[in-house]
Amino acid sequence: MKDKRTYNSVLEAVGNTPLVRLNKITNGIESEIFAKLEFLNPMGSIKDRIAKYMIEKAEKEGRIKEGQLIIENSSGNTALGLALVAIQKGYKVKVVVRDSLSKEKLDQLRALDVEIHKVDHTLPPESPDSYNNITPHIVAQTPGCFFPDQHNNRDNNETHYYTTGPEIWEQMDGRIDYFVAGMGTGGTMGGVSRFLKEKDPHIKIIGIDPAGSIFYDYFHTGKLEKEGKSLIEGLGDEFLIGCVDFSNIDDMYRVTDKEAFHHARLLVRKEGIMAGGSSGAALFGVLKLARSLDKPARIVTIFPDSASRYLSTIFNDKWMQSKGLL
Ligand SMILES: Cc1ncc(COP(=O)(O)O)c(C=O)c1O
Repeated sequence: MKDKRTYNSVLEAVGNTPLVRLNKITNGIESEIFAKLEFLNPMGSIKDRIAKYMIEKAEKEGRIKEGQLIIENSSGNTALGLALVAIQKGYKVKVVVRDSLSKEKLDQLRALDVEIHKVDHTLPPESPDSYNNITPHIVAQTPGCFFPDQHNNRDNNETHYYTTGPEIWEQMDGRIDYFVAGMGTGGTMGGVSRFLKEKDPHIKIIGIDPAGSIFYDYFHTGKLEKEGKSLIEGLGDEFLIGCVDFSNIDDMYRVTDKEAFHHARLLVRKEGIMAGGSSGAALFGVLKLARSLDKPARIVTIFPDSASRYLSTIFNDKWMQSKGLL
């Protein structure tokens, strides 16, 4: 029944997202730019894929049982994906989020009955109460819970090696010159880049990192510089986490909040593609790349989530002004 897109459960509708060619924003650019619309997953982001894969793998290996509480730290999207899996399979979800998370994501998490633990986003990364440090502590104090640990669990990368990568290869008929993607946990980049390089080692891979995150400097200098904060939800980190894999990355670009959000707004207004801030970052990267090339290329990127999650922030002039971004 799959060819009719008729499924036995909403979980089966995860993945197999459309790939579309950008054709308005690319005026004057000879390269072809394609974007995978991951916000068309059931919960509205690419993270539905890893939530489903990580939990189903844990089920197969007997690491999780029905009724268990799943605890995860997330910039919202993984938590929403886990809520979907939990509802379908009979688990509960508690999520650790930064208190800077968009209102839309918080409202959606509440609607899905997810327990929310907010942490102060201004805390320094080394604080025991920071976003990264507090979650293992909460997990240790919650007997019988299951911690997928999307930042360090390589099942995250495996998800994209087995699903997103092959879908892109097939949708592009194996003709790809560049793959460009933002990095948060690094799972998307890790899995897709490995798959594509195995298929065709000539494909060049470019990672996008927000100003304030450590990945860009680490890639270029091998040093872990202390950085600042970015407002792009889902991208970058303050630590070198376990799912980040630089082995197939050829280059990395840095993007500021202003560049990313400006490009997210352009995407909505010029293409009618309702994608969020990390998609704007990806668009900034593909346009920078396309403008630097001396011959046309086929470039693929990922738009991870929806503009509807950021109507009160990126798409709100007052908020943008308050952050000095307009
Ligand atoms: C909106 C958004 N974009 C991009 C990413 C990055 O994807 P990955 O974690 O696979 O690197 C995330 C991850 O949380 C995200 O939420």
